[in-house]
Amino acid sequence: MSYPEIRPRRLRRTPAIRRLVSETRVDPAELVVPMFVKEGLTEPRAISSLPGVLQHSRDSLRKAAVEAVQAGVGGIMLFGVPEQRDPTGSGGIDPNGILNVAIRDVVAEVGDATVVMSDLCLDEFTSHGHCGLLTADGEVDNDSTLAAYAEMAVAQAAAGVGMVGPSGMMDGQVGVVRRALDAAGHQDVAVLAYAAKYASAFYGPFREAVESALEGDRRTYQQDPANLRESLREVALDVAEGADLVMVKPALPYLDVVSAVRAAVDVPVAAYQVSGEYAMVEAAAANGWIDRERVMLETLTSIKRAGAQVILTYWAVEAAELLRQRY
Ligand code: PBG
Repeated sequence: MSYPEIRPRRLRRTPAIRRLVSETRVDPAELVVPMFVKEGLTEPRAISSLPGVLQHSRDSLRKAAVEAVQAGVGGIMLFGVPEQRDPTGSGGIDPNGILNVAIRDVVAEVGDATVVMSDLCLDEFTSHGHCGLLTADGEVDNDSTLAAYAEMAVAQAAAGVGMVGPSGMMDGQVGVVRRALDAAGHQDVAVLAYAAKYASAFYGPFREAVESALEGDRRTYQQDPANLRESLREVALDVAEGADLVMVKPALPYLDVVSAVRAAVDVPVAAYQVSGEYAMVEAAAANGWIDRERVMLETLTSIKRAGAQVILTYWAVEAAELLRQRY
């Protein structure tokens, strides 16, 4: 008998064998593409720290939504960039605010061909850039913010959104949104809860994309990157409050959290590959330091392998096209 008797390499010998035994496949239908739309733009505009991602005009957003559907992506997550901001973020609630207008535009264009989702948070609409309303002494006020989120949820549902994504990390946000939607007759609108959302430096390029007014940080509401058990508590609360899906964010630096959340709950788990994760890969690829497409697909495969069934990624449309050629 020659040694070694057991040879795992046999299953790696040819592309056909490797394809046969591959444990994880990313399906385009599980990818969600975040899109930005800016009020008043007539032409789309580049975002320097997110190469390939655009601030859309209303027109270019509609076209991009159709392309995303043609690529087979599972969802579109909309973010609005208003022309005017105020301390209460009233543009997020106004039916004629840019995000609500964009929801109507995209739903009219693509109907049910993909899941139209919207960010449910005040930070794009507030003049101070925080995700909530401030008290007189500048603290983010949980409970008055909840009332604003409830109104915002109903406005987004009235605009036709299929799924709302409360991302502000206020205590009780999922419950208040669920109750407000139900009370307004929108029982069918689902809640994708940003359940475990960390106070991460990986959101940097996103802040350019939405022209964030924030000074300081979000550490009094988003989680400490050091904590895992706290995520499980946040996730359990969100599920109890009625979350239909729970999300972990960012993704790649938090795969242990994705995996633990997957094991802890029965609802679908999503992960958000955030702007900084995307930008790092794009920057390294632009320097010729890594193979862009391979790294892109490797990161998505890893996030799926860790337990995320739904992945939000700025590469969604391109990755969907690559994956369709592959399988
Ligand atoms: C909040 C929100 C943010 C992101 C998604 N929703 C910004 C923040 O929490 O500071 C970041 C996404 C990314 O970096 O790609 N509206």
